[in-house]
Amino acid sequence: MKIISSEIQAKEVLKNYTDIVLVPTMGNLHDGHISLVNKAKEIGKTIVSSIFINPLQFGVNEDFDSYPRTLENDLIQLESAGSHFVFHPSKEILEGIKNRKAPPLSKKMCGKTRPEHFDGVVTIVGKLFEVIKPQFAVFGLKDYQQFLIIKNLASLSDFETEIIGSDIVRENDGLAMSSRNNLLTSDNRLLAPEIYKRLCWIKENISNKSNEILIKDSIDFFKKKGLVPEYLKICDPDTLEDLNHFSGRALIAIAIKLGAVRLIDNILLD
Ligand code: PAF
Repeated sequence: MKIISSEIQAKEVLKNYTDIVLVPTMGNLHDGHISLVNKAKEIGKTIVSSIFINPLQFGVNEDFDSYPRTLENDLIQLESAGSHFVFHPSKEILEGIKNRKAPPLSKKMCGKTRPEHFDGVVTIVGKLFEVIKPQFAVFGLKDYQQFLIIKNLASLSDFETEIIGSDIVRENDGLAMSSRNNLLTSDNRLLAPEIYKRLCWIKENISNKSNEILIKDSIDFFKKKGLVPEYLKICDPDTLEDLNHFSGRALIAIAIKLGAVRLIDNILLD
């Protein structure tokens, strides 16, 4: 596995490859990330993973400084997963970067409390697409809103990258894998599986109760556990508009803070 550390080097090393699948990450890798590499291997021949903790997508009071930096271990995992290249640029990659604006979809759900987050994401992902020129790029469906926004980015004429979504990977107790799970206190780690259990409860009841009741009962359920979801939605999987009734397709999505740790999860009914 070759490590590429600058834009110039990336362009030089990758210029003769036409079948690149990009797996963008911010490091601190877990099995969820490795499943993205595995998905990439099903799709194309040349796997380029990237590791860059992108300051542009963290708000002022967010956890950029404390975001875990575990490069050595990340590289070991990527190599054994079968990544051929790792693009690990320094912060110089941000110099002169084209600032991009995420589409209006970015103002919903996570965008309500993280107003600039998706602008930062599309800015760095746009840059990665410019430098790596991947034919495909793989993104986890846990960040479903990000996946939709990146699909919108890729549809712009500047790019020829097809966006592939990869299923959520869960711990044995159902908690969606996330780099932030390690930051949970032991009590909150015990509570965290309730998030996915509740999404499953909504899924099981979606045909026999109104969406309004499902949401209200679920908010009461979390309240009894001392938790208040930042959002809990049953919405259209393309527009993220709230749905009053279920008619075959829906995204059930949640963001919730357990102590200082903000977790997101979803179930897609398609
Ligand atoms: O999903 C992530 O880890 C990040 O948002 C991404 C896509 C690597 C951009 O920094």
